[in-house]
Amino acid sequence: MERTFVMIKPDGFRRGLVGEILARFEKKGFRLVGLKLLKISQDLAEKHYAEHRDKPFFPGLVAFITSGPVVAMVLEGPNAIAEVRKMMGATHPKDALPGTIRGDYATTIDENVIHGSATPEDAQREIALFFRPEELL
Ligand code: PPS
Repeated sequence: MERTFVMIKPDGFRRGLVGEILARFEKKGFRLVGLKLLKISQDLAEKHYAEHRDKPFFPGLVAFITSGPVVAMVLEGPNAIAEVRKMMGATHPKDALPGTIRGDYATTIDENVIHGSATPEDAQREIALFFRPEELL
């Protein structure tokens, strides 16, 4: 069993894709361990994306992720980190295959609907940033 952190970004929330995306993960068989709707603060955004601090797109990424509500969740299941990333599709929607979330619902890299942890270390760090232990059931 493995846990991963997933976030439906402000564009996904704004476009009414929350139910559709949650349904995909539930139907696949992942267990929802934590779930919340929140507006990310500047500080939390900078911590979450700290590894990209020096990239040219960082200011735009932080502005976007703090622009409206997001849905943060923790999913649990076998190989959850890699399986969820497979279901999300490539980071850049132009490379994401049809049938994946980004392949079906996104067209641009700066509004690509969803985030999922890339590694076990990222998952542990991101889960701890967004959830207190008692919020995980
Ligand atoms: S990189 O460039 O290899 O570090 O990219 P990656 O590790 O896949 O993730 C980059 C995250 O930043 C978001 N983002 C962009 N990436 C590249 N170029 C542009 N212009 C850009 N704008 C935003 C991208 O969606 C990744 O966010 P997450 O939330 O991790 O999917």
